[in-house]
Amino acid sequence: MTDPRRDIEPAWRIPDGRGRELGIGIVGCGGIVRYGHLPAYRQAGLTVRAVFDVDHERAQAVADEFGVPVVASSAEELVAMPGVDIVDIAVPPWVQPEIVSLAASAGRHMLCQKPFALEFETARRMVEAAEAAGVQLAVNQQMRWDAGIAASRDLVARDAIGRPTEGQIQVSVATGWHLWPWLAAAPRLEIMYHSIHYLDAMRSVLGDPEWVTSVHGRYPDQGPVQGETRTCTVLDYADGRQALVVVNHYNQHGPAFAEFRFLGTQGALGGTLGLMYDYPDGRPDTLTLYRADEEPRSFDFDTRWIPDAFLGPMTDLMDAVATGRTPVTSGRDNLGTLALVLGAYRSAAERRSIRVEDILLSA
Ligand SMILES: NC(=O)c1ccc[n+]([C@@H]2O[C@H](COP(=O)([O-])OP(=O)(O)OC[C@H]3O[C@@H](n4cnc5c(N)ncnc54)[C@H](O)[C@@H]3O)[C@@H](O)[C@H]2O)c1
Repeated sequence: MTDPRRDIEPAWRIPDGRGRELGIGIVGCGGIVRYGHLPAYRQAGLTVRAVFDVDHERAQAVADEFGVPVVASSAEELVAMPGVDIVDIAVPPWVQPEIVSLAASAGRHMLCQKPFALEFETARRMVEAAEAAGVQLAVNQQMRWDAGIAASRDLVARDAIGRPTEGQIQVSVATGWHLWPWLAAAPRLEIMYHSIHYLDAMRSVLGDPEWVTSVHGRYPDQGPVQGETRTCTVLDYADGRQALVVVNHYNQHGPAFAEFRFLGTQGALGGTLGLMYDYPDGRPDTLTLYRADEEPRSFDFDTRWIPDAFLGPMTDLMDAVATGRTPVTSGRDNLGTLALVLGAYRSAAERRSIRVEDILLSA
């Protein structure tokens, strides 16, 4: 008898949803808005009504490039504009809480950037502010909609590899941190700004772990870059499953690689994260399903993490607003990701494993 799981076609495309007519106002017009948010929204025909940046010229240039009709003169003006239903926040993380507070007071839904906050207490306060205002708040953890990860999550959920036992993400690349002066100056770098995606992706496939253990390192010649640039993080689950995230941003001479794997009792999934081969252009992910006594089966993707996956959090939020459900990457869900990030830093500093619940209960 043939195993029906063998022929599973994974769902990985971002589903059509409701609420796509909702109007967007963007606060912050930096790099990621230019090469992530706006190209994705333009591709999908979403309506961006206004932009604002403290750097007015930058906001004007973005508005001109993407045909946004209004450059607001303040964040207050933008959140109060009729037709701005969702405030898309893309500012450095220490600025994010004040914009969340403004948007909540104006009764606007929000898409926040990752990291959602630098401290757990701040994140919890933002979640509570949105809940008290009766608005939806989602976090832009768009790697969940990256094709290889979305397909893997779907295949795991549909039992294609049996009971999952392990997840692995291993990335070794050369990253030009100096291109973002505020990131180069950040005392917490790799996990706070980069591996946060991998930890969130692991949660989306395997669920919430019980323990986090992390060790961090630096390259001998990092120049102005302050934070850790090499990390190894292990997530332990109550039932014995384990996830490993190993990342190095100073692979200066060897061939770069960015690979992920999900292992199970009946099979395995292995693939590459295309974005990391030539950031921010990248290439499509790859993914292969391996099962005993079967030929490996590869899946083809025609989208890229940037910009295509950036449609995921925004359209999911739009659908959530239109239907009244909670967004997949809600602020409250993101407390689980932030707990792993902050737990990883505590683990590295104290050289011990940290119970995730201790972070969740700490604020
Ligand atoms: N989801 C992702 O994959 C992803 C990728 C890159 C960056 N990010 C996040 O997006 C945010 C922005 O990153 P970036 O790379 O675009 O940085 P950037 O430095 O290029 O842009 C930040 C912009 O915010 C503006 N800004 C600062 N304070 C402001 C304020 N009070 N009001 C309005 N605008 C203000 C700056 O003038 C600048 O234009 C960061 O939180 C970063 O972590 C997320």
